[in-house]
Formats: sequence, C-alpha cells, structure tokens
Amino acid sequence: MQTVRQLDPLRSAIAELKRDGTVALVPTMGALHEGHLTLVREAKQRAAHVVASIFVNPRQFGPNEDLAKYPRQLLADQAKLEAEGVSLLWAPDVEAMYPAGYATNISVSGVSDGLCGESRPGHFDGVATVVCKLFNQVRPDLALFGEKDWQQLAVIRRMARDLDLTLPHVDAILGVPTVREADGLAMSSRNAYLSATDRANAAALPRAMQAAVAAIRGGSTIADAMTTLKAALLAAGFTSIDYAEVRDADSLEQITTPGDNPARLFVAARIGGTRLIDNIAT
Ligand code: PAF
Repeated sequence: MQTVRQLDPLRSAIAELKRDGTVALVPTMGALHEGHLTLVREAKQRAAHVVASIFVNPRQFGPNEDLAKYPRQLLADQAKLEAEGVSLLWAPDVEAMYPAGYATNISVSGVSDGLCGESRPGHFDGVATVVCKLFNQVRPDLALFGEKDWQQLAVIRRMARDLDLTLPHVDAILGVPTVREADGLAMSSRNAYLSATDRANAAALPRAMQAAVAAIRGGSTIADAMTTLKAALLAAGFTSIDYAEVRDADSLEQITTPGDNPARLFVAARIGGTRLIDNIAT
C-alpha cells in the first residue's frame, strides 16, 4: 500500500490505479476500528482498488469541540489498511487540503438542519466541503460511508446530486450498516474517550433505543417513547441529551406519529464529556 500526502503524487497514483480497474473511496478521519474496516471490505467487493483517506478535517469541528484531542494514530491505521489490501492511502495534511487562501464553503440546506446540524453548527458544511474535495481529488467510481452517521450520508448524497458529482458505479454513494460492539454500542473512534465505567454505562444507549422502537411498534406515542428513552439514559449516567427524535429516513423530516414511510430514531447524548450518536430503524 502506498501512502501519499500531496495532491500531485495522489493524481499520478490514482491515474495508475484507474488504468487497472475501478476505484472505491473510503473516507475516514483515522483512528480506525472494525466499522471502518467493514467499509474497506465492502469496498473491496465492489471495486478493483480501494483508496482510503485519513484526514482529521478541522472545518467540521466547532470551536469548543475535540479537534485537538481527536485520536491520531497514522502508523497503526496504515498497518490495518495494508492488512485489508487497500491499494492507496491518501493522508494529506491541513495545508495540502486547504492551502493558504482557501475560501470556499459548501453548505447543504434541508437535510443539514436539525439533529447534529443544530447541536453542531457548521459541522455539515465542513463535511460537505471536504467530501466534495475528496471526490474531486480521487474521482472514485463509488464511495462508502457508515450508516452510523445517517444524517452525514444524507448530506453527502444531496451535495453530490446538487453539484452533479456523478459517481459511475451502480452503488455510487453506499451506506454500510453500523457495526456494533458485543453490548450493542455503535463503534466510534470517540468511544476511546470513555472511562471504563462510562463505557459500561454507554451500552444503555442502544438498549434504550431498542426499547423505544419496541414501544412505538407496540402502540406508544413517539413523544412518550422519547420521554422514557431520555429518562433511561439519564438514569444510566448520561449527563445530557442533545436530541432524541424520530425522522423520515430519506427526507429527515421530523415525525410525530408513525406512518408508512421508513423512519429512524436518532439520538445524540453525552456521557462523561463524550458525545455519542446512534440511529436505528423504527
Ligand atoms: O465520517 C467521517 O469520518 C468524516 O465525517 C468524513 C466523512 C471522513 C469527512 O471528514
């Protein structure tokens, strides 16, 4: 596996891979776990070459967020990607991604509003901007993203449609189901921040979400199910809840009574200073 850190060598390396076949892109911010490696494995099923990117994107972190402490472990990540048969790692530094004078921002309205868009203002502008750049830099046949960041996936799909960034593969922008720990907690690089106690208590999140979905399916109102869910999280040691909402799976519009269209339960909550998010089908 080759690692490139500048745009010119990236372009040459991509051109060479493309002479050989299709290219799937797996964008990441590093600190790779089984969720990322699942994306790589899915990518390998669909393309001749997998290109992974590792870039901790400052534009998607708010001023009081965890940019400085976000885990960075390039050597360990390289070994994991190499073992999975990734062809090329694109690992630019901030200067290579946003050279002096960089001035463009991509803002996707609608699906970016609400949920993490409300609790993390500007976050999805940062995501849309960097993913647009990654698509232009790598020009992949398809790109894969985890469904754990469901809203992010919706923002990226909207951005690609609106900016005519057509990815030729039939799967184009593919969402891959969330990978979970044995106790149900969704895998996330941020789980590494949790103390042993908070890590054990964090399993209350998927448990309370499953219970809420079961209650809604059993006839409870969404409002009552959300009240019970929030109480369960606070009782389990979560300190605050940014949101707990049911939304349409595609439009992300909020739903107050269950209907026929696919819907998902979205939760963001904090435990021991760490913000965890998750979403499941209702
Ligand atoms: O999901 C992530 O890791 C990031 O938001 C992404 C898509 C790599 C953009 O920085």
